[in-house]
Amino acid sequence: MSTAKKTKKRVTTHRLWEMKQNGEKISMLTAYDFAFARILDDAGIDCILVGDSASNVIHGHETTLPITLDQMIVHASSVVRAVKHALIVVDLPFGQYQGDSKNALKSSIRIMKESGAHAIKMEGGSFIINSVKRIISAGIPVMGHLGLIPQSIYKFGTYEVRAKEEQEAAQLIEDALLLERAGCFAIVLEKIPAKLAARVSASVKIPTIGIGAGNGCDGQVLVTHDMLGINKDFSPRFLRRYAQMYDDMKNAIGSYIDDVKSGDFPNEKESY
Ligand code: KIV
Repeated sequence: MSTAKKTKKRVTTHRLWEMKQNGEKISMLTAYDFAFARILDDAGIDCILVGDSASNVIHGHETTLPITLDQMIVHASSVVRAVKHALIVVDLPFGQYQGDSKNALKSSIRIMKESGAHAIKMEGGSFIINSVKRIISAGIPVMGHLGLIPQSIYKFGTYEVRAKEEQEAAQLIEDALLLERAGCFAIVLEKIPAKLAARVSASVKIPTIGIGAGNGCDGQVLVTHDMLGINKDFSPRFLRRYAQMYDDMKNAIGSYIDDVKSGDFPNEKESY
């Protein structure tokens, strides 16, 4: 049994803050439906992200841009129904907050009211700060997201490591401090140099959650389908695979097909 499994109290944003102060690492994974969320929660995960990566992983889009607010609410609601322990954070999808803080608040309220999730996540720094402040002022906890921000993929043009140059690194540190001052309870740091992520983590009091950002962050997040090996084609350097579920599932399904075709399934014990 993992050590995390022993604590069964609901994880709160304050608890994540305490974990950072105590030097306890935060575990976070994505879920988009009831079945996966229940397994993650039973295993003792601290935090579940209903990521807009659902756009790629579940809906098969090339980017995270097409997923809608309504779709995110459906995913988030099914996760909420499964979870007793973890803090549930939902991505505010592309188009709901960039340049329009009123719509940002309206969309965040819809997520909170209709899904029952506990917090939302938004990508970007200074250019979205008005939306961040407006949402937090309504009592909704916000997790920031800096570095590689996939909703801006057409601006970057590539999914390569961000902030390798001094100017972008300095801007990222400024953005992290800005998000902290605005009241964000945590910040995801995606695909930036480990040294920079460690520096950001030491500069802010709120927890940082890394993905492809090295071991100096206060916690780690991965896309569950990637770490379980369901998504076979995606193998960036930062990904550790804990299972080979694409192969396991394909083999299991192949065996079922063989058993049906041969007439071996169902047998007498499996019949009424
Ligand atoms: O949408 C997502 O899954 C994310 C993680 C990669 C952090 O934002």
